[in-house]
Amino acid sequence: MTSTLVTSIGELTTWEPDRPVRHDAAIVFDQGAVVWVGDAADVPPADLRIDAAGRAAVPGFVDSHSHLIFAGDRADEFEARMAGQKYEAGGIRRTVRLTREADDATLLANARAIVDEMRRQGTTTVEIKSGYGLTVHDEQRALRLARELTPETTFLGAHVVPVEFADDPDGYVDLVTGEMLDACAPFAHWIDVFCDAGAFTVEQSRRILEAGAARGLGLRLHAGQLGESGGVQLAVELDAASVDHGTFLSDADVDALAGSQTVATLLPGVEFSTRQPYPSGRRLLDAGATVALATDCNPGSSFTSSIPFCIALAVREMGMTPREALHAATVGGARALRRDDVGHLRVGATGGLALLDAPSASHLAYRPGVPLVRQVVG
Ligand code: NIG
Ligand code: FE
Repeated sequence: MTSTLVTSIGELTTWEPDRPVRHDAAIVFDQGAVVWVGDAADVPPADLRIDAAGRAAVPGFVDSHSHLIFAGDRADEFEARMAGQKYEAGGIRRTVRLTREADDATLLANARAIVDEMRRQGTTTVEIKSGYGLTVHDEQRALRLARELTPETTFLGAHVVPVEFADDPDGYVDLVTGEMLDACAPFAHWIDVFCDAGAFTVEQSRRILEAGAARGLGLRLHAGQLGESGGVQLAVELDAASVDHGTFLSDADVDALAGSQTVATLLPGVEFSTRQPYPSGRRLLDAGATVALATDCNPGSSFTSSIPFCIALAVREMGMTPREALHAATVGGARALRRDDVGHLRVGATGGLALLDAPSASHLAYRPGVPLVRQVVG
């Protein structure tokens, strides 16, 4: 691999503590890592040179929440919701049926196509969950396939109780915390639970997360999507890296997040696609919580692969400024994965940059729906 210089960057967001944004800047990557950042007037030699011609550049986005190992789609449910129906967790079982029937090559090709789509929109780090298999074999298979695409794999055997266990949800929790966890842990970095109405209770979630922690997995949790469930406080109590959705948050939830290392990951594509109310990013930021933005890309509640779309929604609907939304989609996502090597462009960063067809990063929200990512470098 060769070194690459990007120069004449009109606005470069590095998130360096003393100078988070530079103007007329340049940056050099070597072996995918940032080795130099400075003024365009002052560049060192490099093998390749890209002239940004005054455009803006931002750190590659960190999408810390997605469900990409699935088959089929559920456009009919989306249409029904747009005609007034409510989102329900039960729809997950339809995707489970189709996913079990699909072969490995189909599932991997589908997921890879979405990861490519994400990259074209500036995402360079992605987390991928299992959760549409719900048998020992199918959950392990999902994680094995996800591993081909990212090291940030998450075991979500506790996505919903599968039909075979409809009369015995605790029996399913026994399976998830026993044989299924044994089979999946070697392929997973994280464990997650959908803690909400129609999925798993707080007590079931606690059992599952504690079993995962005992196997060395990091913790994350889906909570507060369909109502206030107590899941947010469970996540904080167990020092989960992230608690995701937060559509419904009590004041106590916000206080707990603010006093913790647990990131509040907001998923505005879900509110868009389910017609639920948007949570307030402003409320969380003002309280002092760390906020991340992610797509939650999945065929049920949020079938978008676009972090720029999520940034635009966060700015327009969640009370965040364009800078705060960019921070949440880069630094916030990295914190939600407990990574310090991505989401910024300081020396040593490995997440690359997205060069925008725009003079400033605020255009990501100012020009919603426009494909502004011109090139991903690094
Ligand atoms: O994060 N909330 C649970 N899981 C997904 C939805 C999955 C689906 O509907 O297929 C989510 O929104
Ligand atoms: Fe999700």
